[in-house]
Amino acid sequence: MMFVTLARNLGVSEITRLPTTGCDDSFGAGRARILERKVLFVCLGNICRSPLAEGVLRSLVAEHPELEDGLRIESAGTSAYHAGDPPDERMREVAEGHGVSLEGQRSRQVREADFQIFDLILAMDRANLEALQRQAPAEVHAKIRLMRSYDPIQGDDVPDPYYGGPDGFEEVFDIVHRSCCGLVEELLLRRGD
Ligand code: 4NP
Repeated sequence: MMFVTLARNLGVSEITRLPTTGCDDSFGAGRARILERKVLFVCLGNICRSPLAEGVLRSLVAEHPELEDGLRIESAGTSAYHAGDPPDERMREVAEGHGVSLEGQRSRQVREADFQIFDLILAMDRANLEALQRQAPAEVHAKIRLMRSYDPIQGDDVPDPYYGGPDGFEEVFDIVHRSCCGLVEELLLRRGD
């Protein structure tokens, strides 16, 4: 069984070793339910990184329907550049190549209400984190974090692939997938097992 060390696990006071979940391994028996969590992924355009994160987390949770209870997963952009558009075709192709569907998603801009609705708002990079912090009331800043705070491999930003080549989209998939696996482990931890 493969193990991952989540040294930077938010809300956990010591280094914790847990089986990886849904990624290279299966969710452990007895880890049937998670606490209610509402997660919003945010990037600039809401057509590449954050729709991918939404799709990856949905696919990980869908493998284990018992985990779906109380979980709400959405994505949005700090800009309205692509409002109403489906995810970028290059991102859709890479996602589908890994068995993840982004079907049915449409870009939307972050709304004021999101800061009240969601428990966890995950920005894909520091620029979007700062944009969210400027927009959000101070009392909700604690729930705005970087996506890669859940990545067991060190790094701050999920790089913007929009103006780059195909390798950039594959790199984004790897980072987002690892981070979603880390997030699932965090959600399981918070059940208090
Ligand atoms: P995303 O990528 O923020 O990951 O959706 C981008 C999409 C569009 C643009 C920039 C980044 N744009 O400049 O239109």
